[in-house]
Amino acid sequence: MKVVHTIAEVRAAVRAARQAGQRVGFVPTMGYLHEGHLALVAAARRDNDLVVVSIFVNPLQFGPHEDYERYPRDLARDTALLREAGCDILFAPSVEEMYPQPMATVVELPELSRPLCGRSRPTHFRGVSTVVCKLFHIVEPDRAYFGQKDGQQLAIIRRMVADLNMPVEVVAIPTVREPDGLAKSSRNVYLTPEERPHATVLYRALMWAKARIDAGERDAAQVAAGMRAMIEAEPMVRLDYAEVVDMATLQPLARIQGDVMLAVAAYVGKARLIDNLPLTIS
Ligand code: PAJ
Repeated sequence: MKVVHTIAEVRAAVRAARQAGQRVGFVPTMGYLHEGHLALVAAARRDNDLVVVSIFVNPLQFGPHEDYERYPRDLARDTALLREAGCDILFAPSVEEMYPQPMATVVELPELSRPLCGRSRPTHFRGVSTVVCKLFHIVEPDRAYFGQKDGQQLAIIRRMVADLNMPVEVVAIPTVREPDGLAKSSRNVYLTPEERPHATVLYRALMWAKARIDAGERDAAQVAAGMRAMIEAEPMVRLDYAEVVDMATLQPLARIQGDVMLAVAAYVGKARLIDNLPLTIS
């Protein structure tokens, strides 16, 4: 595995592979890798000749009072994990390399960035879409891999790629979970041992909602209210939202039908946790 820190190096490596007829798979991350990230790398490894992973804690997607400074980082451990996972090129740029001057350009999808997490993180998704657009231009992958775990982010990237005719296929990978259902996340390290068992309420609320829908419930307000009540009743947990939305537009639904996403978010101690369940209801 080659580790590169500059845009010129990653471009040169990818272009050489492309000229040799190789297919390029790309996994953008912020590092502190866990099995969720590694599932994306494994899928990229299966589908492509060359696998590129980026590790970049993107300051643009953190709000002024968020966890940019204390976001967990361990490049040595990540490098070893990626080598083992069969990654070909690790691109780990500095902030100066990615943002040599303040950005005068932004990529923003206002309708998709405002609901759900956008209400408590109003500038977050502008930072995500802008950096992913930059990374796509730098790496020029054939396929890019994203986790269903970040369902709103996935919807935004899909729509950006469609709207701007980016020549990349977006591949979604199911959420990887702990044995008790908690979605794996780099931010789970913020949970104390006392808080940890309560964090599973997000998954339990999603499973309760799925059971209701499997039993025939189609009233989105009923399902959302039930998830909300469950999360609000959990000690040490503060509800942010629990909603039933259209998977592509992220707009709240009245009736549960078509491609639907059950989406939840809550604060558990210092951690803000999110989870979701995509469902297709005919
Ligand atoms: P990060 O949180 O590091 O996640 C990188 C990728 O891993 C995302 O596509 C995310 O959805 C996926 N992922 C995280 N946890 C997962 C899990 N438990 N199961 C499956 N996939 C999981 O998301 C970002 O970084 C950034 O916003 C980024 C896209 C890199 C832009 O900066």
